[in-house]
Amino acid sequence: MATVLVTGGAGYIGSHAVLALQAVGHTPIVLDNLVFGHRELVENVLQAELVVGDMDDRPLLDRLFRDRAIDAVMHFSAFAYVGESVTHPAKYYRNNVAATLTLLEAMVAAQVSRFIFSSTCATYGVPTTVPIPEDHPQNPINPYGRSKWMVEQLLADFGPAYGLQSVCFRYFNAAGADPLGRLGEDHNPETHLIPLLLLTALGHRSHLELYGTDYPTPDGTCIRDYVHVSDLAQAHVLGLEYLLEGHPTTVFNLGNGNGFSVREAIAMAETVTRRSLPIRTSPRRPGDPPILVGSSDRARQVLGWVPAYPNLQDMVAHAWQWHQNRHGLAR
Ligand SMILES: NC(=O)c1ccc[n+]([C@@H]2O[C@H](COP(=O)([O-])OP(=O)(O)OC[C@H]3O[C@@H](n4cnc5c(N)ncnc54)[C@H](O)[C@@H]3O)[C@@H](O)[C@H]2O)c1
Repeated sequence: MATVLVTGGAGYIGSHAVLALQAVGHTPIVLDNLVFGHRELVENVLQAELVVGDMDDRPLLDRLFRDRAIDAVMHFSAFAYVGESVTHPAKYYRNNVAATLTLLEAMVAAQVSRFIFSSTCATYGVPTTVPIPEDHPQNPINPYGRSKWMVEQLLADFGPAYGLQSVCFRYFNAAGADPLGRLGEDHNPETHLIPLLLLTALGHRSHLELYGTDYPTPDGTCIRDYVHVSDLAQAHVLGLEYLLEGHPTTVFNLGNGNGFSVREAIAMAETVTRRSLPIRTSPRRPGDPPILVGSSDRARQVLGWVPAYPNLQDMVAHAWQWHQNRHGLAR
């Protein structure tokens, strides 16, 4: 069984990965500076070890790698607000690229050679083919996507030079929550469609802002590929096993290959919550590709990844259970 340093393990996807690691007997150690993470989820719900600190803190990393027999690193910590990355690019390159370089250098120095990275479909930019395969050209159109793409390039160079083997996962839209209700999505500010719909259903938001109704799609709204957060977590466990077995650096898309429009997601949220949700339409936001749907055939074939919850209804239902417990009805 492996000991895994999970950076960003107090956040949404990282905390579900900690749960999945624990479920099969691995030992996660969470490193999170709690800028966005939730201490109580790690300490009380997961009862995992939490090191509160920054991934850019080289002396802290050196101590961790010296004192603990860490077999691999799962790297979730990053800033992930696309709009903010356009207005504050330095913040994104500093945290997502420079701090990741600090982490990678500490790993090389300590001879920790297995790395699993949270990349994104945003590295593809506006796709020319759908579903998008891994070898589709990468032309990210915002600093967030570029910061992730830069780390992918670091990893491609660190393999041959330093023997650092990596699995890079390009997630499509993460959604849902732990089916047993223990964990879920709690970003502040929240920008993701499904939690915004559920917060609207609970009365915490007055309406959902729908950006763009004139895209070249059947109902005019953007189409996205949603993937259940527990299925993402499971892919990370498989990625870890892949590296522990000695397989080489590689890249996988993680999505379901099914696109849902914003209007279809709204209809699903109305069905699950049994409420009619107030929607306000606005013009398109710059930089939103009309369709982002990925092919995850490689992850299925190479890792044997089989999503347990490929249906949007399950994702929305699990998120609804979490949001009701976490936030309750607005007063
Ligand atoms: N949510 C999605 O749909 C999605 C899609 C594609 C890629 N990703 C990527 O997946 C990863 C996880 O996303 P998430 O939605 O769970 O985000 P999140 O914000 O919930 O979690 C990120 C965690 O990293 C921590 N963190 C940030 N900077 C840190 C630093 N310098 N040192 C230590 N901890 C730090 C935060 O406190 C937070 O707990 C991110 O890298 C994101 O870019 C997410």
